[in-house]
Amino acid sequence: MKRKNFIIKSIIGTAGLSYFSSTLSAFNTTKTLKTSEMSKENSDIFPLTIATWNFPNASKRAGELLAKGTTALDAVEQGVMVEEADIKNTTVGKGGAPDRDGNVTLDACIMSPSGDAGAVVYLKHTFKAASVARKVMEETPHVMLAGEGADLFAAQQGFEKEELFTESAKKDYEKWLVKKEYKPIINIENHDTIGMLCIDENGDLAGACTSSGLSYKVNGRIGDSPIIGSGLFLDNEIGGAVATGMGEAIMKSVGSFLIVELMRQGKSPQEACEEAINRIIKANPNYKEFQAAFIAVNKKGEIGSHCIQKGFSYVKFQYGKNENIPSSYNF
Ligand code: GLY
Repeated sequence: MKRKNFIIKSIIGTAGLSYFSSTLSAFNTTKTLKTSEMSKENSDIFPLTIATWNFPNASKRAGELLAKGTTALDAVEQGVMVEEADIKNTTVGKGGAPDRDGNVTLDACIMSPSGDAGAVVYLKHTFKAASVARKVMEETPHVMLAGEGADLFAAQQGFEKEELFTESAKKDYEKWLVKKEYKPIINIENHDTIGMLCIDENGDLAGACTSSGLSYKVNGRIGDSPIIGSGLFLDNEIGGAVATGMGEAIMKSVGSFLIVELMRQGKSPQEACEEAINRIIKANPNYKEFQAAFIAVNKKGEIGSHCIQKGFSYVKFQYGKNENIPSSYNF
């Protein structure tokens, strides 16, 4: 039995299976047909990868795969996995800091050129959060799985069960326990969520966003990273956007969706990112106490980036090399 059918069967039972399968397959066919074709005039600027912060190994991995002809979806998944696997990165994947009760929980989402999406939240037993999100997208009729169910699903999909709380994160957590100071503030110099957008040689766009969220967050807190439209949004006919920084502010503004819609209306990626940040500033009187940043790319390969506080940069991999580019900012 195909995995997709197995999962669907276990969720809805045999009676509804044929209806669900045919609906899902009709839905996927529609979305495949919607995927736009590459404009020939852009063939010299693609492939192209951009990612939040200076994560050069991640962008290089994605960029090199794209150069070999890998699809945007495969490249973005493999690219962000570099940071998910890096135990020195304390805000993504394996090395992530725990919540205030000592749980390391991961959030991620992924979007394909067809506009399909998958997400996981409160994942505890594998660092490959974006890959599990992709399995949710491809092997279930759902968009998001949470907590125990997400971990169970990951195990069923063959992801190895592992301990995410590294020795170094434990030491930092023990120091934090002494003061138990809870400040939901993301340090403006801190490397935060990785959000990545890849355009492959066919001009198709895919994106992923993955994070362990805010360090020492309240148990159960979910940020913007796995929320389609907040941490990530794309439309293969327009462009895409990803976010990093204070998840609460980004979620309330649905910033990545906003940016794509502004680009649809004719704004450049830069203008759209600036507008999204301005809305966050307007809606949050305490905006000087946190960082929020967006990066975006349109289908012409034009890139934009804007953030609240000085200190954010993004990385671009194009023409076989990385470039770390400081973002524009308000303060
Ligand atoms: N941007 C990551 C988070 O707030 O969880």
